[in-house]
Amino acid sequence: MKFDLLATDAGSSARAGVLHTAHGVIETPIFMPVGTAGSVKAVHQRELEQDIQAQIILGNTYHLYLRPGLGVLEKAGGLHRFNGWSKPILTDSGGYQVYSLAANRKITADGATFKSHIDGSRHHFTPENVMDIQRTIGADIIMAFDECTPYPCEYAYAKKSLDITHQWLKRCVDRMQTTEPRYGYDQALFPIVQGSVYKDLRERSAEFIAAQNQPGNAIGGLSVGEPHEDMYAMTSLVCAILPADKPRYLMGVGTPENILECIALGVDMFDCVMPTRNARNGMLFTADGIINIKNERWKEDLSPIDATLGGYVSSFYSKAYLRHLMINKEILGSQIATIHNLTFYLWLVKEARKKIQEGTFAAWKNDMVKRVRERR
Ligand code: GUN
Repeated sequence: MKFDLLATDAGSSARAGVLHTAHGVIETPIFMPVGTAGSVKAVHQRELEQDIQAQIILGNTYHLYLRPGLGVLEKAGGLHRFNGWSKPILTDSGGYQVYSLAANRKITADGATFKSHIDGSRHHFTPENVMDIQRTIGADIIMAFDECTPYPCEYAYAKKSLDITHQWLKRCVDRMQTTEPRYGYDQALFPIVQGSVYKDLRERSAEFIAAQNQPGNAIGGLSVGEPHEDMYAMTSLVCAILPADKPRYLMGVGTPENILECIALGVDMFDCVMPTRNARNGMLFTADGIINIKNERWKEDLSPIDATLGGYVSSFYSKAYLRHLMINKEILGSQIATIHNLTFYLWLVKEARKKIQEGTFAAWKNDMVKRVRERR
């Protein structure tokens, strides 16, 4: 996997680059829609590609392993063939989902034992089998098995957890080096920096992760309830240590404002359920701020949802029609709202990339942050 750095912003640490994968290129900075169980909820693959112009989507090891299971995925020839998405796929390792979804979870030095949230069945994840599972899913980018510490988190726990995450990482690297890609194409491992909100732990972790010399690196354990200042401080500190010639992925972030601020700190890749999950509740992100489309205020507003984005759905449908669909709980409402929000997120990172290449990112970002956090 090759990463070409094309431009670095003069007024910030923002970068524009191109990541080359076996399933195509990813222009960074990029936002990756979340497709937990092999589907970006309420959107089909042609819309993802043509309307939203997604370049890479996420899948979750935890969900896909439980359902449909590895037998089906293997028979299909991997997730790309199973769901019909032929562009890059990144899979999260299950580290995060085991802690947020599974019941009776127990973490030991060996791995994590848990009960399925679907049927209560017992399972055991180890760094080794989580690498094998992601190879079988067929992800282009495979995430290391880690523990995402909660917030707040005592220093002693964060330290102990970090040591386990680092030991697990060595085992992930070993496993990846001693196994072959499942379907003939390259599969890259991204290690994950942890360390909660503690500077010394984050520094130690970033140095350890950088030393693994993998094709890309991730920052985890943030956007879990800590103040935004802490998230930015940790991201800034870690970006300064992670190698500049490899992509940096900030996991689970965030709002449009968070994404812009973290692009300025040197992050290249983002994912978050916010644009998809919140769309289904009527929260829309636009170039002029956040709106609740169910509000009475939009009842007779026949103007497009957001014509500035240039996307078909956001220009074609009116706010009043989308409000009507949402109020009536029509399935089409969730579909339109989701496509719109993802179109906005992809538009935002594409604009950021243009500004970085033009050398005007820093000033544009400050203005854009004010606009996108506005509540209308
Ligand atoms: N998604 C959001 N945060 C995290 C994290 O810290 N680890 C993993 N594996 N996934 C995440």
